Formats: sequence, structure tokens, C-alpha cells
Amino acid sequence: MAVKFLDLRKQTATLRAEIEPAIARVLANAAFIGGAEVEQFEREFGAFVGANALGVGNGTDALEIAIEALNLPKDSEVLLPANTFAASAEAIARNRLRLVFVDCDNTYTMSIADLERKISPQTSAIMAVHLYGQSADMHAICALAKQHNLQIIEDCAQAHGASFASQKVGTFGEIACFSFYPGKNLGAYGDAGAIVSNNAKLLATCRQIAHHGGLQKYEHSRIGRNSRLDSLQAAVLRVKLPRLNAWNAQRDTIAREYMRLLADTKGLVLPTLRQQAQCVWHLFVVRILDGKRDIVRQRLAEAGIETGLHYPKALPSCAAYQNAPFVRTSATPNACAWESEILSLPMGEHLDLAQAREVADALRNAL
Ligand SMILES: Cc1ncc(COP(=O)(O)O)c(C=O)c1O
Repeated sequence: MAVKFLDLRKQTATLRAEIEPAIARVLANAAFIGGAEVEQFEREFGAFVGANALGVGNGTDALEIAIEALNLPKDSEVLLPANTFAASAEAIARNRLRLVFVDCDNTYTMSIADLERKISPQTSAIMAVHLYGQSADMHAICALAKQHNLQIIEDCAQAHGASFASQKVGTFGEIACFSFYPGKNLGAYGDAGAIVSNNAKLLATCRQIAHHGGLQKYEHSRIGRNSRLDSLQAAVLRVKLPRLNAWNAQRDTIAREYMRLLADTKGLVLPTLRQQAQCVWHLFVVRILDGKRDIVRQRLAEAGIETGLHYPKALPSCAAYQNAPFVRTSATPNACAWESEILSLPMGEHLDLAQAREVADALRNAL
């Protein structure tokens, strides 16, 4: 491919001189689970977000453990966006809570009007997902949560470093979760995740759950599980974290160039930025109108441009959630209509302006 969607080989080559000694340090210390490397990463990532952090096995575990720690009433309802990765829904369903899908607005995050409509006496929490790198409308979500006495879980898996009204995502709700899946803005060399919160008691409960139900070895004060960030991943993440702001800035440069070059292109809808949201562009998602998405995607592939679909199906259209007894049926027309229009263009710090121009030219030609 002439323009790659993601280029982890390039990033790894750039970092090799720092990654290798970091890995050698872990090998020399032979502390593979826990220990100084993990503790330091938790401190550094917590300082970056502005909350306390706990490393866990991956972003899905982070969400599942965070929800378990909140101890929401049995069978109560959690509102979540219809347009998100399956992990957001899995974490709610696996906690035996009911799901209520909320439609998205033109920022592709939760529609506040639809959220308000779907709050019921059974609702116990809202899962705000900061999709594609853009914050949900956290002031409106916080106001509704306060009014109806609901908990907020933030899914920040796609939004490391994003903010809303100059406040970092991950600090609005009671608890927030990050994924460090390799392709994320901050990615490990395998699975990894984190839970962040400023509620020390809640975070201690999460730590307990993730460490077999106890804070000390062989102390099992509750039924726990195993979900730990390992030291090799922590060492890799510690090399990458100081570069995250610069990488996010490069993503912003590429996004602005796409926006400039593709403005007013017929048959194409560019991303809408929410006022007050500082987006970190995990993905740059456009919509291709008039039923032409698949042919445009094919033409781009022929021109050497790699693209993605996030997501080919909105969650309410997926078999696991269609007519499921644990899902309150509700309409999500935008999310369902847009699943056949969305197209993710190459995005990442691996791109330069010349490549952004190549993508924009190829897209205009394809259209
Ligand atoms: C929005 C969202 N939530 C949760 C996750 C789950 O993270 P992980 O893959 O680390 O389990 C992901 C990433 O894949 C995601 O994009």
C-alpha cells in the first residue's frame, strides 16, 4: 500500500533505540508482573490524565472491572452509544446489567437529545464513549447524570489526551477506562489497559477485583479475577507516553489538511467537530453518500490507499444484541443508517502532508 492506514513498523523502528534498553531493564530485574515498572507507569499515566491510574490486562477488562466496582443495582439499565466498539457493550452485559443503545449525533458521539429521551427510572449509569478521538458532550452528560443521580463511566479507549473545555477526558465521570491495544494513540506491544479515577476507594476496589479479590497475596476478600498490566508492556508504554502529545499534534495536522483539501467535496461528509472538544483523531471518519462507499473504498485500494470501517455494523444491528433479552429495544436511526456510509481514512503520526494530499486527491478522483 502506498499510504498505510496504520504503520506500527515505522513507529517501532523510530523507537527501537529506547525500547530495547527498556525491555532489557525488565529482563534484568525479572519482575514481570507488577513491580517498579508498572507502578511508575501508573504514576506517569495518572499524571498525564489528571487522576489516579491502575494498569490492567486490556481495555475490555478495564470497563468490565470498573462497572463491577460501581456495584450498580441488579438488572438496572446502562445507556451507551449505538456506535462504538463491542467491548463497551460486552462490559455492561457481562455484569448482568441491561443495555439501552443511544443514537449518535453528527459528531458520532452520543446524541444528548436521544440520551435524555432514553433515561428511565431503571437507569443507573451512562457510558460515555469518546469515539474516534473526540470527546462526548461531557457538560451535558454530567448535568443529566447529576439531575437523575446516575454514575458515569467514560470509555476513553480511542481518546488518550483528548479534552473537553480544556479538561482531559477520563476526569469527568466517576471512573474511566483506557485501552493500550497496539493501534491506539498510545499502544503497547500486546494487550494492555488502565482504569483511572479520582475516587481512591473505587480504584482500590478495582485493584482488588483485578488481583484475585485482594490487595495482598493470598488474601481473597471478594471473588476476583486476574487482569494485570505486565512489566514489559509498562516499559514500552513508558517510552511512548512522553511522545503522545507530539503524535496527537501530528494527527491534528493531518486532519486539518484533509479538512482543507476535501472541503465542499460533493457526495462526502467530513467529520464534525464539537465546540469545546479538543480531538486527538484516533480515526478520521468520513461518510460517502449515494450508496457509493464500497466502490469508493475499492477505488482507493486500487490507488494504494488503505482504509478501514469503524464500524461495519452499529451494535444494535449485531446478532448478539438484536432482540436480546438484556437489551431494551430502542431506535438508533443515525447509527444504523450511517453504518453503510462511514469510511476511515489513513490516520496517524506516520503520515506526512504529502501523503494526506495523496489520499485527498485519490478520494476526490474516486468520487
Ligand atoms: C471504544 C473502545 N472501547 C473498548 C475497547 C477495548 O479495548 P481492548 O481491545 O484493549 O480490550 C476498544 C478497543 O479495542 C475501543 O475502541
